[in-house]
Amino acid sequence: MKSVVILISGRGSNMQAIVAAQLRNMRIAAIIANRADAEGLQFAQGKQIPTHVVDHTQYATRPEFDTALAQCIDIYHPDLVILAGFMRVLGEKFVRHYSQRMLNIHPSLLPSFQGLHTHRQALQAGVKLHGATVHFVTADLDCGPIVIQAAVPVLEGDDEASLAQRVLAVEHRIYPQAVQWFVNDQIQFDSNGRVKLVGISHALEIEKEHLYVPNLDSTS
Ligand code: GRF
Repeated sequence: MKSVVILISGRGSNMQAIVAAQLRNMRIAAIIANRADAEGLQFAQGKQIPTHVVDHTQYATRPEFDTALAQCIDIYHPDLVILAGFMRVLGEKFVRHYSQRMLNIHPSLLPSFQGLHTHRQALQAGVKLHGATVHFVTADLDCGPIVIQAAVPVLEGDDEASLAQRVLAVEHRIYPQAVQWFVNDQIQFDSNGRVKLVGISHALEIEKEHLYVPNLDSTS
């Protein structure tokens, strides 16, 4: 049985998807938010999952916040820390402490569109495919080893909200999947630090489902 701690800052819909997936051999030990008004906390409380708030505004410096957060997490000795819409940049020492055992979800097909406002960035770039990435967290923001990605089409007339909604739907599918692989010890790293999945037979199925091929038939 593996134990996980999930960090959120707001809505927590990815956290909810992970809870709802009822993953095998995994216990959600606690949900921690950096804001007392994070909506996801209520959901967690309703599920009788222990919750904590480590409010970043109560700490003078980032390292002090990081230390307090790590202390709170480590009460539970988690095998895995899951960032699910956690909107604070974490320092190098913190990230090193959870090396190869902290996942994040980013709403773009990394390495494209790192940072904030990814859907706006995608629309501005005019890409035809967009998506989401689950990756391990390293000190370089949005650059850690990639576990799984899913693509969605960018459609004519999309705005940030419609695109975000389409991406979020695949986020809710790939994040529980990545966590289940971690729990199953199916994630390894190659000599270049890239993720190597072990014994995954259904990876292709996911790939196929989200494969987007434009219809090139033209009637004009
Ligand atoms: C998601 O789009 C996630 O990829 C990004 O922030 C958003 C959080 O949404 N990091 P939620 O709090 O999980 O609903």
